[in-house]
Amino acid sequence: MKNIVLMGFMGAGKTTVGKCLAKALNCEFIDTDEQIEKEQGRKISEIFAEEGEQAFRNMETELLKCLQKNEERFVLSIGGGMPVREENRKLLRDIGTVVYLKTSKEEIIRRVSGDKSRPLLQGGALEEKVTNLMNAREGIYEETAHEVVLTDGKLPEEVVKKLLK
Ligand code: S3P
Repeated sequence: MKNIVLMGFMGAGKTTVGKCLAKALNCEFIDTDEQIEKEQGRKISEIFAEEGEQAFRNMETELLKCLQKNEERFVLSIGGGMPVREENRKLLRDIGTVVYLKTSKEEIIRRVSGDKSRPLLQGGALEEKVTNLMNAREGIYEETAHEVVLTDGKLPEEVVKKLLK
């Protein structure tokens, strides 16, 4: 079986679903945000504040190149902006089966409101920020995905069940 890559907007549940799926498949779980924070010894919000978004995007691409060489089977949850770079889209599809966890704007806004850890959603006008980013990314997610799973109104365990099928 191939690796599974979970892709989707911020708040889609990639990390929660990924952990649960990896447990069910008895394989390693890797989260790109967590991995970058561990390697850097600082939070993503600090990387954005100290070095800017592009530096973080370069770290994401470097990490994918490393993961491409990983011989163990794993479930990978990626940051929501990862597929925006064309180079990353190719790497992701090469790493494994890319599943798009698709969530409605309304549900995303409910889940991320009050969150302080995501630099791209800070500073007010949350709905406008989510709308603009979603409009820019929806097509990219659809184009990159091997499979699409709708997550609205589903518990993480229900999404995992669907993925296992
Ligand atoms: C980002 C999503 C975040 C994180 C960073 C940027 C994005 O990950 O990588 O804040 O551009 O959508 P999650 O999707 O896990 O929140």
